[in-house]
Amino acid sequence: MTHSTDKVQIKDYSFIKYIDEFEISALVRRLSNQIEAHYEVLPLFLPVLNGAYIFMADLSRELQRDHRVEFIKYQSYDGMESKGLKASISIPEDKVIGQHICIVEDIVDRGHTLDKLRKELQILGAKQVDCVAAFYKPDAYAYERKPEFIGLEIPDKFVIGYGMDYDGQGRGLKDLYQLEGER
Ligand code: IMP
Ligand code: MG
Repeated sequence: MTHSTDKVQIKDYSFIKYIDEFEISALVRRLSNQIEAHYEVLPLFLPVLNGAYIFMADLSRELQRDHRVEFIKYQSYDGMESKGLKASISIPEDKVIGQHICIVEDIVDRGHTLDKLRKELQILGAKQVDCVAAFYKPDAYAYERKPEFIGLEIPDKFVIGYGMDYDGQGRGLKDLYQLEGER
C-alpha cells in the first residue's frame, strides 16, 4: 500500500479520499445521539468483525450511557465482491435470549450479512434486532428492511479506510477512500 495525502494505491487499484475523518466523527456523534434518544435502555451492541472494530470504538466512546458490547465474526467479502455467507456466528445463546440487540456494521452493501445475522439472532431468541451502519449503499441493498440507524448513504462503489479493507489492506486509514474509476 502506498499513501499520499489524498490517494491510496493497493495493488492495481487507486483509491481517492472521499470522506474525511472529521465528517466521520460528526456522523458517529449524530448516530450516538439518535441511539440514545431511541432506546430507554441501550441495547446489546454486536459489532461485526473485522470491519466494525473502529466504528464500535468510536461509537462506544460517544455513547453517554453504559452499554454492553460483544464482537461477532462474520465475513461476506472476497476481494471486492460480496459473496454469500458460509460462516455462522459464535455467540452464547444465553447472551442473546430475550435481548434487544443492535448490530454494528461498518458498511451495509448488498445486505446479505445483515439479513443472515438478523435471522440467526432471532432464531437464538433475541427479542429485537436493529442495526446501526456507519455507511450504507442504498443502490446495492437487496432487502426490504433497512438499517435503523445510518451514518451516511454512499454510492455503490468500493471504499476502504475506517476499518474497511481491500484484501487486508487499508483498515487503519482515518478517512474513507473510494475506488477510482470503474471496475
Ligand atoms: P453485505 O453483506 O453485502 O451487506 O456486505 C457487508 C460487509 O461486506 C461489510 O460489513 C463489510 O465488511 C464488507 N463490505 C461491503 N462493502 C464494502 C466496501 O465498499 N469496502 C470494504 N468492505 C465492504
Ligand atoms: Mg463487515
